[in-house]
Amino acid sequence: MKAAAVFPGRKSLSLVPDFPEPRIHTNTGVKLRILNVGVCGTDREIASFLYGTPPDGSDYLVIGHESIGEVIEVGPEVEHFKPGDLAIPMVRRPCNHPDCYACRAGRQDFCYTGDYRERGIMKMHGFMTERVVDDAIYMNAVPGAIREVAVLVEPLTIAEKALLQVLEIQKRLTFSAPPGNAVVLGAGPVGLLGAMTLKLHGYDVTVYSREREPNPSAEIVKAIGGKYISSQDCDINRMAAQTGNIDLVYEATGVSRFAIDVLHVLGHNGVFVLTGVPGNHGPTPTDTDAIMRDMVLKNQCVVGTVNAGKDAFENAIADLTRAWAKWPAAVNGLITGRFPIEQFTEPIGHQTGIKNIIEIGK
Ligand code: BGC
Ligand code: ZN
Repeated sequence: MKAAAVFPGRKSLSLVPDFPEPRIHTNTGVKLRILNVGVCGTDREIASFLYGTPPDGSDYLVIGHESIGEVIEVGPEVEHFKPGDLAIPMVRRPCNHPDCYACRAGRQDFCYTGDYRERGIMKMHGFMTERVVDDAIYMNAVPGAIREVAVLVEPLTIAEKALLQVLEIQKRLTFSAPPGNAVVLGAGPVGLLGAMTLKLHGYDVTVYSREREPNPSAEIVKAIGGKYISSQDCDINRMAAQTGNIDLVYEATGVSRFAIDVLHVLGHNGVFVLTGVPGNHGPTPTDTDAIMRDMVLKNQCVVGTVNAGKDAFENAIADLTRAWAKWPAAVNGLITGRFPIEQFTEPIGHQTGIKNIIEIGK
């Protein structure tokens, strides 16, 4: 089988033409024929050799963690999948420590030890290949109606996990209040999918991002009923004044300076969710008194979130189904480039458009 791989030792990327076909070797295994695999910033980091670890004993890592496949074979004890069904495998696998409460409870997205593995990222081959096998417990069923765009589910799970966290945190508000104003930082795929989710869940959404209008991301934001503001045209204070009380900030840029600057305008009882992973650019000064004063006097909360559990996958599949029915052109517009696996290095080498995908099967 063909597989797209990174070789960290010799700092190269190449197609492995004879990657061995995986076999079902447990009663609960599921084999997929991969249809599409998305490319994201994590893949670009792995391809720049900044991140990513091959499985023990391998000199390469097959990349790809945003996937959609069709079931072609199941083990004898698999109940909920049959050949022809669509499924999306989760990314993270639990650590082995007996006392990791999170992993032992199937919540490896909250792993305490850091010894988890991630398919296509950390010590496990990923999905940018023709066929993959995994246990049924890591598979999520996908309705045929969203087949064409289901590759967006995994990046959408980031927003869905964030929203679940926000809803948990805001249970502290024991009075009734509308969801309120959400500001999304960044208009890449994670930001735009976050904007869609927040819109579906009743927030007034403003996407605050660098690029000036007109641009395709701003069009998508407007198509879903959100507001787009360019940070080059409008500074943070003016953006905040236009928004009203900022109840939620959903950060999807990975630029820490920008995030901390926006933290200064978070509103009363506001929650600030961080999803980006910044590089190490060294310390930058900020007004810590102002931040601490506001956090206390305005009951604010800052929360980071990574990866996603089964609940977020299920919500992502349900919300993508709703979004696709409601805003087909906007959802379609997120996928801006399609490449055969032979050309996988192109979208990984340089970011163009919004979401690029590798088409492996039909
Ligand atoms: C993936 C997550 C993963 C994270 C860190 C992201 O791109 O979407 O599932 O946990 O990278 O490796
Ligand atoms: Zn990703």
